[in-house]
Amino acid sequence: MITVERLTKTYGGFRAVDDVSFTAQPGRVTGFLGPNGAGKTTTMRVMVGLTPPTAGTVTINGRGYHDIPNPGRQVGVLLDASAQHAGRTGREILTVGAKTMGLPLARVDEMLAMVSLSDTESGRRLRNYSLGMKQRLGIAHALLGDPSVLILDEPANGLDPAGIRWMRSLLKGYADRGGTVLLSSHLLHEVELIADEMILIGNGTIVAQGDKASLMAMDGNVSVLASSLDDQALAAALTQRGFSVSPEAQGLRVACAPEEVGRAALEAGVVLTELRSGAAGLEDLFLELTASTQREGNIERTEGAQA
Ligand SMILES: Nc1ncnc2c1ncn2[C@@H]1O[C@H](COP(=O)(O)OP(=O)(O)O)[C@@H](O)[C@H]1O
Ligand SMILES: [Mg+2]
Repeated sequence: MITVERLTKTYGGFRAVDDVSFTAQPGRVTGFLGPNGAGKTTTMRVMVGLTPPTAGTVTINGRGYHDIPNPGRQVGVLLDASAQHAGRTGREILTVGAKTMGLPLARVDEMLAMVSLSDTESGRRLRNYSLGMKQRLGIAHALLGDPSVLILDEPANGLDPAGIRWMRSLLKGYADRGGTVLLSSHLLHEVELIADEMILIGNGTIVAQGDKASLMAMDGNVSVLASSLDDQALAAALTQRGFSVSPEAQGLRVACAPEEVGRAALEAGVVLTELRSGAAGLEDLFLELTASTQREGNIERTEGAQA
């Protein structure tokens, strides 16, 4: 389990991480989501003792990283897949790791097989690896010591769609066996399908956290999108029932629960062709919650200020 308590990291007067608290629980995949520059890497670097915090604490299984004996056996870390000796082969990098942790060398082959790096590939030097290959090697390195906690910073970067799917099942399996997984991403769709919990960070502060259902529930605008063979009649029936109806590109948006549209359609004798939740979805929520750190949003504001 990872516990972050009131963590702050400042660089000069700039607060890269501002009073951040959250936990990542065993048996669950926790997604750490936020746009570029939100403070994800900084938080993770503090977790593994690479950056000293300005204030606050992080513990892993109850201890600070530096107090964990043979940390690679407890915490698997992937922060920067390129931060390995570029002149070493993939196999050599894993071998050095295994020796440092006192592991049998057979573990190296096991890990290479698990991340699907072939003998030829593992014999190449890291500098000749593609980003995706580096990520696979980095994941192998993180899992080498069979740790109970995994901390992965943007592990899906550079992976092809098949690689992302592979990583998803790997991490789910790892969490199902009781492991704690914290993985960061700036792309919602990468973590949405895999994370049991999500921590949303923007501008160094946590803007929302919870499981997918509770995050969706934060989006208070309940509405449904309905299409029918006679939208005009359906709109009239719904308006008569006191619901507000607005036309959409296809069909109607109605501020009520889906069954109300069904009832109105039934009574009016209109055939429904589509009925689905009109909730904006996590993507919009993510953009909205982290709006102040979205570069595109900032540009708009700057331009507005100049105009
Ligand atoms: N060593 C550093 N010195 C100064 N500023 C830094 C340093 N490391 C990170 N930052 C700043 O802290 C903010 C958060 O960075 P980072 O944690 O890398 O964000 P993320 O990983 O979410 O993209 C950024 O604005 C970044 O420029
Ligand atoms: Mg980062």
